[in-house]
Amino acid sequence: MPSAQVLLCLAVVLAAAAATAQAHLQCLDTPPERSLLGGQAEAGEVVHDLPGGFRAYVTGAASSSHAIVLASDVFGFEAPLLRKIADRVGEAGYFVVVPDFFNGDYLDEKKNLTEWLKAHSPVKAAEDAKPLFAALTKEGKSIAVGGYCWGGKFSVEVGKTNEVKAVCISHPYNVTADDMKEVKCPIEILGAQNDTSTPPKLVYQFVNALRQRNGIPYFAKIFPGVAHGFACRYNTTDPFAVRTAEEALAYMLDWFKKYFK
Ligand SMILES: *[C@@H]1O[C@H](CO)[C@@H](O)[C@H](O)[C@H]1NC(C)=O
Ligand SMILES: *[C@@H]1O[C@H](CO)[C@@H](O)[C@H](O)[C@H]1NC(C)=O
Ligand SMILES: *[C@@H]1O[C@H](CO)[C@@H](O)[C@H](O)[C@H]1NC(C)=O
Ligand SMILES: *[C@@H]1O[C@H](CO)[C@@H](O)[C@H](O)[C@H]1NC(C)=O
Repeated sequence: MPSAQVLLCLAVVLAAAAATAQAHLQCLDTPPERSLLGGQAEAGEVVHDLPGGFRAYVTGAASSSHAIVLASDVFGFEAPLLRKIADRVGEAGYFVVVPDFFNGDYLDEKKNLTEWLKAHSPVKAAEDAKPLFAALTKEGKSIAVGGYCWGGKFSVEVGKTNEVKAVCISHPYNVTADDMKEVKCPIEILGAQNDTSTPPKLVYQFVNALRQRNGIPYFAKIFPGVAHGFACRYNTTDPFAVRTAEEALAYMLDWFKKYFK
């Protein structure tokens, strides 16, 4: 019966649309409170014209031989909670760089996601960031990368080069199991039970791909009771959300302590 076929097609289309809508929503969920911008005490500062032409928030020990690049989600490098994380990473003894990969053009609900992603492809950003990574290397620093959402894909891309020594991705967006076949350094994946962009099922696929690699250390954890975004833009008045984000940060720091020496 053709009508059954049509129904089936419609169901598939609707399911795809629902999945897409959900994924889009989660990447834009709980946006950072812009009102807090500049209102918090920050340990670091914004610098301009880093190699590659980036603005960046830099914090931590400038003289450290270990630099950690934190790659933001779609809300960019101004997000207060992300800066707080950067400061905490800096307190652990690293030099921390949070580049503005979007040149101030952050995603919001008024923008077309497809168009925005075309203008701000994480794969292209990884290419564009080469001068920045080269400059850090030239300064005698070894580099690790931590990425959130959009920054997760960026991190995986730079993790395919020889320049990066360790990677940690939290609730990544657009990362695939095939990416895991090409990553050259130890990688940690922090997923969320309720993440529709990178659901637990996809995290298991990452792990399966990594298991077949020889000698690439990996670790994956799914955090229960949280959704996409939980590690870097949590509800600061929800104790469970705060505790879970703290835990994710601790996992990232432990990962770097172990594999980024
Ligand atoms: C977003 O842009 C794409 C590509 O240009 C277009 O096909 C799509 O219809 C747009 N979506 C909305 C909601 O405007
Ligand atoms: C990743 O992004 C590309 C380009 O926007 C898209 O074609 C592809 O479907 C995405 N893949 C995943 C797994 O999100
Ligand atoms: C996670 O999903 C469960 C089941 O759908 C739901 O009850 C819960 O409210 C969700 N929690 C979050 C933080 O999204
Ligand atoms: C944040 O958490 C508090 C306490 O659990 C809750 O009352 C509030 O509705 C939450 N805010 C948002 C935006 O989810």
